[in-house]
Amino acid sequence: MKVLVVGKGGREHALAWKIAQSFYVDKLFCFPGNAGIAKVAEIPDIADDSVESLLNFALQESIDLTVVGPEDYLAKGIVDAFEAKGLRIFGVNKEAAQLESSKAFAKEVMKSANIPTAAYSTVTDFETGNKILKSSKYPVVLKADGLAAGKGVIICGAYDEAVSELSQMLGGKFKSAGTKVVIEEFLKGEELSLLLLTDGTNVKPLLFSQDHKALNDGDTGLNTGGMGAYTPVKSGTSELYEKVDKSVTQPLLKELKKRGINYRGILYIGLMVVEGEPYVLEYNVRFGDPETEPLMFMLISDIIPYFWAVAGKEGSSLRGKDENMPLFTTLESLPDLVWRSGYGMCVVLASGGYPESYEKGKIISGLDSVDNDCVVFHAGTKFDASGNIVTDGGRVLMVTSGGKNINEAVENTYKNVAKITFDKAYFRHDIAHREQERAK
Ligand code: AMP
Ligand code: GLY
Repeated sequence: MKVLVVGKGGREHALAWKIAQSFYVDKLFCFPGNAGIAKVAEIPDIADDSVESLLNFALQESIDLTVVGPEDYLAKGIVDAFEAKGLRIFGVNKEAAQLESSKAFAKEVMKSANIPTAAYSTVTDFETGNKILKSSKYPVVLKADGLAAGKGVIICGAYDEAVSELSQMLGGKFKSAGTKVVIEEFLKGEELSLLLLTDGTNVKPLLFSQDHKALNDGDTGLNTGGMGAYTPVKSGTSELYEKVDKSVTQPLLKELKKRGINYRGILYIGLMVVEGEPYVLEYNVRFGDPETEPLMFMLISDIIPYFWAVAGKEGSSLRGKDENMPLFTTLESLPDLVWRSGYGMCVVLASGGYPESYEKGKIISGLDSVDNDCVVFHAGTKFDASGNIVTDGGRVLMVTSGGKNINEAVENTYKNVAKITFDKAYFRHDIAHREQERAK
């Protein structure tokens, strides 16, 4: 079959890398792609990255399955547009994407379904917000309602900071994403990510993983898109999984169904575990980045049957090639995902200055010198005019490796991080520190 991956980050590189190994895939495209993705997929010549151009390409090439990485495409309705033309696409539709694209909507859904989450208020005017901030306990969390590339959440230690942040958000700091602001109780605990494949009724969980959102060692500094991740997580026990299933996943799927929302795709549950009890910090409607990199590294199962089953719409006519694909039926009929033993992890190499301003175009060296059991997923890279691979974004590379225990995984990964260089490269030195602590 012919597959198209949409996106250009480390997450999409990891997905394309995994899909390229599938038994079922003859031809893989990725757009817009990057210099690393070009090694595992063809980057086609498409005029631009609009939904319309991608749809035209998929129709022309008779793409059998499209897999969408980033949330903005989902929020723009790429799935609805492809399905309207009879194309099979993995990702949630526009209505379901609101669970990520509007924090106020997500909180309202959680409240209706009685899902444990931090207490909150949603405000659209300064006066109301100011009143709430005056009587809040600190720290308090302010969240711009809309998509703000992972930068719209600010933890404020005191009233003065919070009130200034509120006025900036409502004043357009995040453009229209900040016209509504969620003011939320600060939860103290351990943050975990749980990604689930779901057709709206059935669920196949991926392993628990843990991201490191803060820029600097010791979880200090600015919030970023994520500086590294590992999987599995010892505190992500089967007991915790059962609690999440019962108090979060099932009530959410039921509530969405009640509202007529057809949720098919990835459900990413951002959890804060407070004294053993799971609270939802956020939902994302797509794979996490950088969690996907170690997750795909650790996954043994062929991912395509899962994507295919989730992407299939009841009642939609299957395309011609399906007859030859006996495995592709329903998510329910597929076995649980199978994983490598031990740990997988990735360390993000970022451009100095990220998540604020940084330079691009730095030549990257050492990419070919990594060990065989290390995969370097590319996020912000491209080829320059002379064919060198150069930096082209804030997060540049996700150096991914593993080991039979967490210490070995850390050692293997950092050994390879040391082999790759570019001007002003920045990375954290303590990815997986919580798991290393637990292993002591
Ligand atoms: P989000 O974009 O909602 O994932 O928020 C970004 C980060 O802010 C999260 O990964 C948490 O580290 C932190 N955060 C968000 N909400 C809360 C909360 N209610 N209490 C504590 N930390 C939070
Ligand atoms: N790793 C956090 C996210 O993908 O939102």
